[in-house]
Amino acid sequence: MVILSPSLLASDFSNLESEIKKVYMNGKGCQYLHLDVMDGVFVKNISFGIPVISSIRKVCDIIFDTHLMIVNPIRYIPDFIEAGSDIITFHYEAYNTGKEIFDALDLIKKYDKKCSISIKPSTPVSVLLPFLDIIDMALVMSVEPGFGGQKFIENSLDKIRKLYSMKCEKNYKYDIEVDGGVNFENIKSIKEAGANVIVAGSGIFKSADIKDTVERFMNY
Ligand code: DX5
Ligand code: ZN
Repeated sequence: MVILSPSLLASDFSNLESEIKKVYMNGKGCQYLHLDVMDGVFVKNISFGIPVISSIRKVCDIIFDTHLMIVNPIRYIPDFIEAGSDIITFHYEAYNTGKEIFDALDLIKKYDKKCSISIKPSTPVSVLLPFLDIIDMALVMSVEPGFGGQKFIENSLDKIRKLYSMKCEKNYKYDIEVDGGVNFENIKSIKEAGANVIVAGSGIFKSADIKDTVERFMNY
């Protein structure tokens, strides 16, 4: 069963509560809400941050899947958890040493939240090897981080397959999330490759009937 995590980045920011309710459907819709935090330094774009997340936390009790595209993420991890994040993903490329990555993962775990590492399209899956037995999720970026609405990069499927085969081989527990350019043309191959958490931004929020699209994604 696939978990759907609509990316709020593609929603109408002037009406966040109603946009969230359309995908949440009083608990009958998607399981996660994907929150893309961008600082204008790690990626070119700036999106939203801690105050917005705290505000929307009051609107529903959906799982907040926070994707930090920021430098030095450990500095802000407590604030994003305090704001209501349930899963924290930070980027492998945000750090230079394994120790810094272990420290960030440990901090998230100390708060009893789920920890996850993301890799950019040009970063090989092998960099995640030291962390696979402790992470709750690995996020494969299937577009360059920074913007929604880009085209899915095909070799992401190989990266998902590798993560999935290592997971089966070693009996690891992590989820495999894919983020960027997901649509009804490629979701089948993404699922077959082994991803079980699917992010979709424009594919959901820019569709003509958001509720219907969520249902289609969930039942695919
Ligand atoms: C890109 C973000 C993605 C993005 C996905 O940096 O991490 O979550 O919002 O949007 P779509 O589905 O439109 O590619
Ligand atoms: Zn994202």
